[in-house]
Amino acid sequence: MAYRAYNLPAMNPSNLLTRLAPAYQVPLKRLNTFGIDAIAHAYLEITNVEQLRELRNHPVLSRLKRLILGGGSNVIFADQIDSLVLRIASTGKAIVDEDEHFMYVRAAAGENWHEFVLWTIAQGFGGFENLSLIPGTVGAAPIQNIGAYGTELQSNFFHLRAFDFVSGEVIRLDKAACQFAYRDSVFKRELKDRLVILDVTFALPKKWQANLSYADVAQRVQALETSTLTPKDVSDIIISIRQSKLPDPTVIGNAGSFFKNPLVDAAQREQLLQTYPNLVSYPQADGHYKLAAGWLIEQCAWKGKQLGKVGVYEKQALVLVNHGGASGAEVRALAERVQADVLEKFAVSLEVEPVFVG
Ligand code: FAD
Ligand code: EPU
Repeated sequence: MAYRAYNLPAMNPSNLLTRLAPAYQVPLKRLNTFGIDAIAHAYLEITNVEQLRELRNHPVLSRLKRLILGGGSNVIFADQIDSLVLRIASTGKAIVDEDEHFMYVRAAAGENWHEFVLWTIAQGFGGFENLSLIPGTVGAAPIQNIGAYGTELQSNFFHLRAFDFVSGEVIRLDKAACQFAYRDSVFKRELKDRLVILDVTFALPKKWQANLSYADVAQRVQALETSTLTPKDVSDIIISIRQSKLPDPTVIGNAGSFFKNPLVDAAQREQLLQTYPNLVSYPQADGHYKLAAGWLIEQCAWKGKQLGKVGVYEKQALVLVNHGGASGAEVRALAERVQADVLEKFAVSLEVEPVFVG
């Protein structure tokens, strides 16, 4: 794997055991966008790598199960989290380098993703405007290679640095090492629960071109003077589309799309089209087709329906919502019902996108 260790200043052992002071029995309701009223056994805010080194060497705390938490916008908590929750709260962003083609910008893992995007635009750089308004932190963005409106994080990713709990070193991973794919990366597989991402460096193109590949975006751009289109214009369009479709987590709890859009081969799509001529699908470069999971769920009559305190959002069937006081178990129950119905009707398996924790 293409990573290398960084030389960090040696830690002062005399400070061990004195600096890490977790809080215990901490409510997490305001730290997850689904609004689940979970309690963390122990909780620490992490702002620098020295804390992680201390934690790894700590005789008691190092033995606790760990949960890394960013903005809590892609996690579904059980009622009791029997882990030490490490909330990543590091800050800082800067332009770090440039060459003929790119500006290189770096942000600490705890920075808010959307604010970072707006900052890059204000610096005069395009590249991430299509990923405007995605909740969460910079450090979590590589975990599922966040994507929207025809762009994915990987398109402007350069490298990241992470603390490795196994070796105790800070390692650097380039794009190939991250193994990015649709809502996927090495951090969800081989390196799961091993690393804390510390910061991410991006390469933003000096020569910007708007990505209008998504029909909704192209449609709205038509109303503008395209010769003077800026990254800010596109960002504004994306924000407005998202606000019209997706529920605001500060108003109604949710974790964005609850399922990935499933991939099927050409033969299965053809077969489905014979029974369902209105099937919504998108061709992929490798010959597969991505199906719109929201359409599949809507056809199973789940849109706007409720099971216990959890429901399928009335404007976007791919989003599950908290109607107030939902538990992680209720979320799981509804997700499983939806999966079973889609499997029965279309013979297609839906994979859950957020991470169940607890
Ligand atoms: P969290 O939910 O806190 O954590 C997610 C996972 O990452 C967990 O496994 C956690 O352990 C791990 N993690 C977090 N930080 C670190 C770190 N520093 N180091 C190592 N591991 C870490 N996603 C999209 O891709 N596209 C969208 O368009 C989109 N729209 C959304 C809309 C809404 C309304 C909501 C609520 C969510 C949406 N999401 C979308 C999902 C979510 O915003 C992203 O997955 C986001 O990257 C999660 O960031 P977070 O900081 O909240 O991560
Ligand atoms: N559709 C329906 N009914 C619905 C919802 C959608 O029929 O209730 C159909 C429509 O035909 C629509 C198509 O599905 O045209 C696609 O819908 P939409 O444009 O809303 O996108 P999506 O496939 O539902 C994906 C991502 C979103 C991302 C948007 C925009 C996944 C799992 N979801 O949603 O990401 O913001 O595209 O690019 O890939 C997330 O990951 O959390 C997320 C919100």
